[in-house]
Amino acid sequence: MATVHVLDHPLIQHKLAILRNKNTSVKEFRELISEIAGLMCYEATRNLPTEEVEIETPVAKAKVKMLAGKKLAIIPILRAGLGMVDSMVDMIPSAKIGHIGLYRDPETHLPVEYYCKLPDDIENRQVYVVDPMLATGGSAVAAIDFLKKYGCKNIIMMNIIGCPEGVKAVQEAHPDVEMYLAAVDERLNDHAYIVPGLGDAGDRIFGTK
Ligand code: PRP
Ligand code: URA
Repeated sequence: MATVHVLDHPLIQHKLAILRNKNTSVKEFRELISEIAGLMCYEATRNLPTEEVEIETPVAKAKVKMLAGKKLAIIPILRAGLGMVDSMVDMIPSAKIGHIGLYRDPETHLPVEYYCKLPDDIENRQVYVVDPMLATGGSAVAAIDFLKKYGCKNIIMMNIIGCPEGVKAVQEAHPDVEMYLAAVDERLNDHAYIVPGLGDAGDRIFGTK
């Protein structure tokens, strides 16, 4: 079964507390999503391979470690996943970016696909799928299904807030996918919203409600 990492770092938890607050403005919400994603990226890239190279400092020759050239891709699930991209690209500027557009049908809560554009060589890349919310897990499972159809083998899922139902759904469908979350909340409500959660992440990032 895939490892689930819940990132309980005090900086992440503090920012998450402000993010959840219903009185937090759209501007601040957007900034916090980005900041939390940047901090999560630091942990989610911890196991990237490095190689030893020799360089010269102003003082002496030194053997130092650099990333071993593994190719990366960041795949936001639209819309809300877009909020997590910029801070990750700041950290890993050579990463390519693909987009998977999914929305949840309000009645069935099942994901509906409306857009997909991936880097040509996606199958050779370490892929980070990013989306602030993991509720039923339907969107995450559909996005990973899709990436696997394109040949992706190394996939990491990053969500800011999840719940037991969503974590279980991803684990059962994709036991090879490692998961990073900032919190796993109590449960889903009757509308498949996470409780206590933060409401609708897309609407709060883009100010659409
Ligand atoms: C939200 C969220 C996830 C999905 C999670 O997107 O960003 O993609 O719901 O729910 P699930 O785990 O039950 O599939 P939404 O469908 O609201 O679209 P949006 O990002 O365009 O607002
Ligand atoms: N999508 C969201 O944006 N929030 C939830 O709580 C569930 C799905």
